[in-house]
Amino acid sequence: MEIVGRGFTARHLAPLADRHPDVTVVAAGVSTTAIEDVAAFDREAELVYQVLRRCRAERRTVVFFSTSSHAIYGADGSPGTEDGPVYPTSVYGRHKLALEAAVRSSGADWLILRLTHLIGDGQPPHQTIPLLVKGVLSGRVTVHRDTYRDMVDVRHMVTALDRLLADGVRNTVVNIASGIPQRMETVVCGIEQRLGRVAEWHMVDVPRTETTVSTARLRELVPEVTDFGFGPDYLSALLDRYIGKDPMPPGTAAADEKQRDIYDRAETYEAFYRGRGKDYEAESNTITKLVLDRKPDASSLLDVACGYGGHLHHFDKAFRHVEGLELSREMISAAARRIPGITVHHGDMRQFRLARRFDAVTCMFSSIGHLDTTYELAQTLRSFAEHLTPGGVIAIDPWWFPETFLPGYVGSDVVTDNGMTIARVSHSVRAGTATRIEVHYIVAEPGKGIQHFADCHRITLFTREEYEQAFRAAGCDVEYLPGDPAGRGVFVGVRS
Ligand SMILES: C[S@@+](CC[C@H](N)C(=O)[O-])C[C@H]1O[C@@H](n2cnc3c(N)ncnc32)[C@H](O)[C@@H]1O
Repeated sequence: MEIVGRGFTARHLAPLADRHPDVTVVAAGVSTTAIEDVAAFDREAELVYQVLRRCRAERRTVVFFSTSSHAIYGADGSPGTEDGPVYPTSVYGRHKLALEAAVRSSGADWLILRLTHLIGDGQPPHQTIPLLVKGVLSGRVTVHRDTYRDMVDVRHMVTALDRLLADGVRNTVVNIASGIPQRMETVVCGIEQRLGRVAEWHMVDVPRTETTVSTARLRELVPEVTDFGFGPDYLSALLDRYIGKDPMPPGTAAADEKQRDIYDRAETYEAFYRGRGKDYEAESNTITKLVLDRKPDASSLLDVACGYGGHLHHFDKAFRHVEGLELSREMISAAARRIPGITVHHGDMRQFRLARRFDAVTCMFSSIGHLDTTYELAQTLRSFAEHLTPGGVIAIDPWWFPETFLPGYVGSDVVTDNGMTIARVSHSVRAGTATRIEVHYIVAEPGKGIQHFADCHRITLFTREEYEQAFRAAGCDVEYLPGDPAGRGVFVGVRS
């Protein structure tokens, strides 16, 4: 195989150098989706045209690496499949698509691989993972909020290419992706964990990108994909390999731990808290009373970040009409099973707009701590207030305050519920103005075996004044009542 290029991808293709003698691979070109440098695009185009002319003349097959990132598949209506349609979202995506067209019409045999973000040894420092590692090591890391990246081990790309060429696959476009977009917050937690560092997170708002890439053709053409481990644990395997295992001493179970978000495992979440005896009924009764004391005719309620509907189930008995709002689709599915008939909207509490107003808006179990800044807190309270009827009530069960949080706190429970035995151990530290809580779960189910996974959340330690200020800015009178419903007290606001 002739390999054109000397960069990261080209170096990883070296094991194939003695195979596929009639193939030329163009592994040179723009290596980041962020670039908008016309000269770099021109250089890549010129190189590709030269290779295409030569491959046509010498009857060689050309392999061209395009992209399956959001640059190609990120737009509404780009379904993430090779047969399109695609509406590239950036200059980089349009450039790659134009070169794909040149390849297809070149007269040479061709194979186009639309590569996702490749991870491997020797990555250029400007790419996502090296940048995040550098940031964590420096103590301050820039994190793009609510952004997702599909990532694939470069070794898996090489195996797939080898198989496709060996099987004579030609004149075809194939996505090389895992099919699972990974949330960047989870990636950063995984890196922190493996480096044994907790960095200050500088959150940056960028347009939301969660592109799901179809892997159907890849799976059909490359049987080895079943051994790659694409699935919920793939990220952990990548981070273990390229960042290192958890720095905990040998002999602990850390080596087996997987990075998972408990909110994406709604059944485990529900079983754990029910098994631990979280008293959703008593908490809901407390809130109901607080609402009715302030608005006796209240008959409708919206529970924001409602999870699987533990509170909604009880609010439904006290109010004529209840609805929920939730970010995690897994949680929404769990709510549909638990409280069928109650609408749970998919949405982000920081910016949502529903068709109706409610007499009460609640936000329970510290969900509010998922907001990162006082600006977001203000924005969220404004959204809550905009969904209230006149005199309506907002009740927020907050996270701890900076002075009540116990740094280094360890929580531990073993519960059995719904056929699952769950051991949960947590450790919380202070990370700037937030708590960084790391939780390990071991879940055993009869006949299914034992799974071990870990998740990590950053929960902001807003001060009491910051909460109160956000209520007032949203046009609400506010009081803080310590204690109930869950020990951290409750903020109750009334729209004035
Ligand atoms: C600690 S759980 C509480 C769930 C539920 N209220 C309960 O008491 O069981 C936090 C919930 O907030 C949701 N969440 C996190 N960020 C959110 C956001 N920006 N908008 C809406 N929901 C969010 C999570 O998906 C999760 O279900």
